[in-house]
Amino acid sequence: MLRSKIIATGSYTPERILANSDLEKIVDTSDEWITERTGIRERRIARKSEATSDLAYEASKNALKQAGLKAKDIDLIIVATVTGDMPVPSTACILQDKLDAKMAAAFDINAACSGFIYALSVADAYIKNGMHKRILVVGAEILTKFTDWEDRTTCILFGDGAGAAILEATDGERGIISTKIHSDGSMWNLLHTPGGGSKHPTSKETINKKLHFIKMKGNETFKVAVRTLESLVVETLRENKLKPSQLSLLIPHQANLRIIQATANRLGLPMDKVVVNLERYGNTSAASVPIALDEAVRTGRIKEDDYILLEAFGGGLTWASALIKW
Ligand code: COA
Repeated sequence: MLRSKIIATGSYTPERILANSDLEKIVDTSDEWITERTGIRERRIARKSEATSDLAYEASKNALKQAGLKAKDIDLIIVATVTGDMPVPSTACILQDKLDAKMAAAFDINAACSGFIYALSVADAYIKNGMHKRILVVGAEILTKFTDWEDRTTCILFGDGAGAAILEATDGERGIISTKIHSDGSMWNLLHTPGGGSKHPTSKETINKKLHFIKMKGNETFKVAVRTLESLVVETLRENKLKPSQLSLLIPHQANLRIIQATANRLGLPMDKVVVNLERYGNTSAASVPIALDEAVRTGRIKEDDYILLEAFGGGLTWASALIKW
């Protein structure tokens, strides 16, 4: 059976660290509040000169190195991001140029925090129908350039980073078993960046009104996220006739430790079977799942034949899962 297999992963996070104690000096907050409510202790901040494609480039180089491949071996690049370098062209095209991946078609996907899993599902379908053989899938974000540093309800949450995975066509039982993607556009305004698009093109007014920054109704989003992710992971396992005890690792989107714990509890999974790194990176949107996946691979937490479940929830609203036999 033709499947797509993740043959290598890579990630990159900027060097500069912003700790909760630094945020105490910027807005009316405390390390205690942030840690208790979110689990986040610090996050990485990109340099002024760095664009999202630069982070994506570093993560992709690491993945190519792990795979022992050259960029010209890749025939498609998909970048999931909501903080691309510019509206046109796609960040994937800029990444293609930086990598000199001449043989690859390239496009972006916007599914906010679920973007990497959405991109995986597209890549998986292209590989299964024979259109592409080797695909680079990247989740990359510089959220901190779209963050309102005067809004304590959002600025404590976000960080920058990138993660990448290389998928290859393979015969056999191992690889991506299933992907599920969902959306509910009726709740688009729970999490959005209103300015800079065709609805509110950039003007002095949009800037004065801070419409170019990310807005989130955190508490409402939290409730929908918990409810939705709990049923998503249960359904994903049920449809694939797997018991939670057969899962080796859950790799969730890193938005809030309480959301992650609720999802793990619903499956009866002990936390040592859950990858958590948000204390170091915060919420990096589309980058969070591939960074966590890469850390799990590099620290030896994933072994051959393990069942791994990826899941994410984000603006759109969107939510998605991917079940993998490693
Ligand atoms: N420091 C101190 N107090 C803060 C604060 C901060 N940084 N941010 C908000 N507060 C205050 C609020 O003003 C509120 O005060 P009040 O009770 O006097 O009105 C109180 O803390 C509780 O706020 P609330 O928004 O209800 O907190 P919460 O428990 O929902 O936690 C989030 C806030 C943002 C951490 C949480 O809602 C969350 O993680 N949301 C979902 C994120 C997510 O999954 N997004 C989708 C994927 S990206």
